Amino acid sequence: MAYKFKRQIFSFLDLIRFTKIVPNRKKMLEEGSSAPLPATDDVTETMKVLHPGHMKGTLLEKKEVAPGFYSFLFAIDKPLFFESGSYVTLGHEVGTSYVTRPYAIASSPFDALREKRIELMIKKAGFFSTYMIEEAKVADVFDIHGPFGDFSHESLRDHDDVVALAGGSGIAPFISMARSLHEGSSSGYRLHIFYGTKTLKDIACKDELDALSKEPNIDVTYVLEEKTEGYPQGYIDRKILAEKAPKTFTAFISGPNQMIAFAREELAALGLEAKDIIAEPNPIRDRPSEGKSYKLTVHIQDKVYEVEAKDTETVLVALERAAIKAPSACRAGGCGYCHARLIKGKFTIWGGDKRRLADAKFGYFHPCVSFPDSDLEIEVPPAK
Ligand code: FES
Repeated sequence: MAYKFKRQIFSFLDLIRFTKIVPNRKKMLEEGSSAPLPATDDVTETMKVLHPGHMKGTLLEKKEVAPGFYSFLFAIDKPLFFESGSYVTLGHEVGTSYVTRPYAIASSPFDALREKRIELMIKKAGFFSTYMIEEAKVADVFDIHGPFGDFSHESLRDHDDVVALAGGSGIAPFISMARSLHEGSSSGYRLHIFYGTKTLKDIACKDELDALSKEPNIDVTYVLEEKTEGYPQGYIDRKILAEKAPKTFTAFISGPNQMIAFAREELAALGLEAKDIIAEPNPIRDRPSEGKSYKLTVHIQDKVYEVEAKDTETVLVALERAAIKAPSACRAGGCGYCHARLIKGKFTIWGGDKRRLADAKFGYFHPCVSFPDSDLEIEVPPAK
């Protein structure tokens, strides 16, 4: 059907109104109060609490909650509001590098908002986690940025039953969800945690989880690889889920990437649709080496840096190794926070291309999941 354009008889009036915009604005400015604007107001102060962005976190306590798995309690310099399931990035200088990593918040929202404390859980797995576990000391001060993520129950999107599948250190966001349901900062859903570990002693915070599972809206099932009396043996698979999970649910998965892939298959076999499966992927780390390294030319505002980028490391890691501060959050290609512009060169994206179409079309890429395949010239926004 052809579109019919309706001609406005009095459209010339718009032209007359247009000529009055400037004199009208002048008049309004002259009539306005000359008193200075207030330095702040309620909306601004509330916004600062809801979106604090960058904080300083002083380490209050570090303790091992399972072999090789540690809890870090920080005092933050601002109250923070977050939804359980969110993560923050933790940043610190390590040697000559400045390194940041994302970690799920394990503490409850009220702790962060009222007590200005957050707890992160870190498993010894790489460069920064090893630094945290072996070298971080009480009273050390860290940069904390966030909160980020959408790994939280959304009543409009999700079912009233949440099945939380945790592998190893992936339990942290679910501890926060259980604490939050317990204290009342979240409500409106029931949490069914399936927590898979190798052995009984690998279960973190078991006493607390056992106590929380007495709440009417929380239950916990431990699944152990090692045969242990009184516990299901094996992996969190379709059989265990069919037996113990409710009929209809939204699944949240947090753990190693292989565990997430396995859980997706098991949930699909139970008939769960993709929209009911929400996964928190792990940051990309290394790819196998071909022994090559490339020149990375980096433009940040009016400065240009030249650094080495190994084929085994992401562009973001190469920047951090050279102590160049670059924006980052999820480090898994999903949030877009690190997005930079490619001027020249080739790279490989690992873990699937999650860029927006417009970003890909206009040459933007995510350094956190991109490995260099040639010398690269890139433009990076300055980190705050
Ligand atoms: S840090 Fe989230 S996409 Fe790179």
